[in-house]
Amino acid sequence: MSGESGSEWVALREDDGRAYLLHRVPGEVKVRGLGRFDAEQLLNGYSIGDRITVGQKSLTIVDPALPEARRNMARRAQVIGAKDAGFLISWMGIGVGSRVLEGGHGSAGLAMHLANVLGSSGTLVSVESRPEHAEVGRANMERLAEVLPEFPDWHLIDGDLSEIGPSVSEICESLDAAVIDVAEPWRVVPAIEPLLRAGGRLACYCPTTIQLERSWESAQRQGLVIEWAGEMIERKWVKASKGGVRPGNQPMGHTAFLLIAAKIAPYEEE
Ligand SMILES: C[S@@+](CC[C@H](N)C(=O)[O-])C[C@H]1O[C@@H](n2cnc3c(N)ncnc32)[C@H](O)[C@@H]1O
Repeated sequence: MSGESGSEWVALREDDGRAYLLHRVPGEVKVRGLGRFDAEQLLNGYSIGDRITVGQKSLTIVDPALPEARRNMARRAQVIGAKDAGFLISWMGIGVGSRVLEGGHGSAGLAMHLANVLGSSGTLVSVESRPEHAEVGRANMERLAEVLPEFPDWHLIDGDLSEIGPSVSEICESLDAAVIDVAEPWRVVPAIEPLLRAGGRLACYCPTTIQLERSWESAQRQGLVIEWAGEMIERKWVKASKGGVRPGNQPMGHTAFLLIAAKIAPYEEE
């Protein structure tokens, strides 16, 4: 049995959405939350869409996609989630074939969302200055590459965003989009802006207002125009036990302010 994509990975999904990725190869493996078993023997005779029992758990066998890969990812640094990644991807016009830079790469939270939409014709350049973070991100991306039907031309640069201009230029002529997620985005904006094509967009992910303001000023100093700045607010609803649906009790958590700026042609000096 293999997924429709031909992948040897499957996901075992609990009814509530929790999922376990399983590589269908011979040999015993330990899967956290499920136990120890030989995946090939366990899945023998089962197909995608079947229900299977593992220990006490009753699970549906599904083709894995981004949500299942993310539920199984290793995390070290704080990751950008679906709320902000989805907004950035749509607002910045990122899609099949786009050339995108992202950094710091961290645990690859954003990079996984980007890889999911770029297709095999896209290019993704990730930059990370801390090798111990890059290692976690790389492992998450390598597994995603095995799970997705298409994966972009992906490069992970070990370095500082403020110094990677020449390395990026060797990979692609110019960028359609760049997303900066570091503690001091305003310090790296001047190095990233020249890499963008005219009309290309740069975004900064800013957990605090100071980061937003400084990044805003830095982008404007570089001649970028601010297209959107603000915060995405997500409010989850639940089904009430006595009937009806209503907002849940969990508070709305702040993630970050987003700044999206576009590159325009310079004005001629008079
Ligand atoms: C919040 S984490 C990034 C999370 C990642 N975007 C995600 O969605 O999983 C910030 C990362 O930026 C890295 N970093 C900080 N300054 C950097 C710089 N100037 N150049 C490259 N990476 C940097 C840090 O080591 C850290 O791993």
